[in-house]
Amino acid sequence: MKINGEHYRSVWPIGEDAFGIIDQTRLPHEFVTLTLRSADDAAHAIKSMQTRGAPLIGAVGAYGLALAVREDASDDNIQAVLEMLEETRPTAINLKWALWRMRGTLMNQPHGKRAALAWAEAAKIADEDVAMSEAIGWNGLKIIEQVAARKPGQPVNILTHCNAGWLATVDYGTALAPIYMAHDAGVKLHVWVDETRPRNQGASLTAFELGSHGVPHAIIADNAGGHYMQKGQVDLVIVGTDRVTANGDVANKIGTYLKALAAQDNGVPFYVALPSSTIDWTLDSGADIPIEERGADEMLKIAGRTTDGKVVTVEIAAPGSPAANPAFDVTPARLVTGLITERGVCPATPEGLRNLFPKS
Ligand code: MRU
Repeated sequence: MKINGEHYRSVWPIGEDAFGIIDQTRLPHEFVTLTLRSADDAAHAIKSMQTRGAPLIGAVGAYGLALAVREDASDDNIQAVLEMLEETRPTAINLKWALWRMRGTLMNQPHGKRAALAWAEAAKIADEDVAMSEAIGWNGLKIIEQVAARKPGQPVNILTHCNAGWLATVDYGTALAPIYMAHDAGVKLHVWVDETRPRNQGASLTAFELGSHGVPHAIIADNAGGHYMQKGQVDLVIVGTDRVTANGDVANKIGTYLKALAAQDNGVPFYVALPSSTIDWTLDSGADIPIEERGADEMLKIAGRTTDGKVVTVEIAAPGSPAANPAFDVTPARLVTGLITERGVCPATPEGLRNLFPKS
């Protein structure tokens, strides 16, 4: 992606003993990059959501582990740091996937070679994520083009939830990749952007991305999607995901399930875009996915910019009000029209996934 004409990825190496990220907690008001120099830095950035989005935290975790290997390449240290990083966010499987892939690459290698191998493997994970996101874009583009062909001259209206764009991956995005490809191919589009309470990744990140790329869009309250579907103003829904189980169930940002229900009631196709690193082949059903419970402060406070340019956080509830904050929900496979992957689009079924990924 480009910021002010300069090409960025969402994570990048800095020499061989540090790496960079965009501080997503400061967007859209300020564009700030951070240099991370240790696994502890990476853990803090993931937990505080300075860096976020399932595929991206996988790549950041991999670079964090690679930095730890430079300090101490022993089996014990690799295992301890892996577990420390793995605990930072429990729902997105990409983090676990990347860390265990790093471990697999390193464990049987001579200690003296491990630092270089770890750095190279982290870079490979990042590069592969870019390639998978790009392929998801091309595969999803076909779906958008089919809808566009049925309504010549009119925009294709797409609803998305949370942020599954380039900020959530290393580049391109998952749900947003087909949207960028379609826009660049000249397809007329309009995107309904769910604000995505409580952290507002839609309002602050997706709208920022779409605006920077020139894609027409409007931020809507999370509760407005069903209304627009009833009015015939949503042609399709495309969301990302943090974990897909072997039966095709989909965990994604809290509120996704309600959108899938509304989509089914209104005959609106509901697609989920994902790289294969998001598939958890070890779980048979979404009921077994651990759902991250985040702090009450995310519900009770909100950050924004005042008219004099200051970014402040304010309380939105009476002092002492309790809050609960599950960060993800599970959309059953039966509500999903199709899974858009780097290998093509498949039904959200065990057979559909196995046909595309027979060796996984
Ligand atoms: O809590 P977040 O912001 O990390 O959650 C991210 C999402 O739910 C995304 O939609 C999902 O990770 C897909 S990212 C391509």
